[in-house]
Amino acid sequence: MARRPVIAGNWKMYKLLGEAVETALALKPLVANANHCEIVIAPVYTALKTVADRLEGSNIKVAAQNCSTETKFSARTGEISADMIKDVGCAHVIIGHSERRQFFGETDESVNQKTKAALHSGLTAIVCVGETLDERESGNAEQIVKSQLVNGTDGLTVSDMERIIIAYEPVWAIGTGKTATPEQAQEMHGFIRQIIAEAHSEETAKNIRILYGGSVKPENINDLMNESDIDGALVGGASLEAESFAKIVNYR
Ligand code: 13P
Repeated sequence: MARRPVIAGNWKMYKLLGEAVETALALKPLVANANHCEIVIAPVYTALKTVADRLEGSNIKVAAQNCSTETKFSARTGEISADMIKDVGCAHVIIGHSERRQFFGETDESVNQKTKAALHSGLTAIVCVGETLDERESGNAEQIVKSQLVNGTDGLTVSDMERIIIAYEPVWAIGTGKTATPEQAQEMHGFIRQIIAEAHSEETAKNIRILYGGSVKPENINDLMNESDIDGALVGGASLEAESFAKIVNYR
C-alpha cells in the first residue's frame, strides 16, 4: 500500500487562542479539497480544545507538541498526559522535537517513554530525530540519528510502529532558512528506513511515514516530495500563515 503523505504544521510557542482559531479557520477552506495527504496542525496546549472543536468534521487533525511520560493521574505539577491530549480532541502528538531536546532536557529515554504513553492513549506519535550542525560536520549525523531512532522506538511492537510517524529534522535547518537539499534529505530518509528495517522489520520500514522538517516552504516542498523516501513535511515558520501552509499542503 502506498504511504499516505502527511503535512504537519508545528506552531511552537506562537499564537494566542484567538489567533490560533483564526488561522485554523482560514486554513480550513484552503485545504478542503486536499485528499492526497493527511493534514495536521499543532497549536499550543491552551488552544488545543478550541481549535479541535472548531475543526471537527474537517480534514485537518490537531496535534499537541509534547506530552508527559506519566500515563496515570499523578502529582506532576505542570505536566499534561497523553490521555488529556486525546480527551480534548487531538489525534497526534509531536515527541522529541529538537527544541525540547535542547531546552528541556528531553532524552532518547524520555522520548521512548512519551511515545509509549502516546500510543497507550490511542494517539499517533510524530517522533522527531535529527543531528546538529556540529554532529553533521564531524561526520556523526548518521550515528546520532540511528541512536535517536533505535532508543526512541525501543520495545515498540509491530502494531505500535504502525501508529508512529518519524520526522527527520536536521537541527541546522530549523528556522535558519537553510533547508537540507532534497538529496541530503533523501539520503538520511533512506538511511532511517534501513535502520527501522534492522531494528523492527522490512514491512514496518516499508510502511512507516518519514517526514522532513527544516525550513520547508511553498518554494521547496515539491522538490522534497519528489524524493522516494520523503513522505511529508513538519513545517514550522511557514505553517503560521494559513496561505503559505495551504500552499505546502497543496504542493501538487
Ligand atoms: P522551520 O520550518 O521554521 O524551519 O521549523 C521546522 C520545525 O522545527 C518544525 O517542527
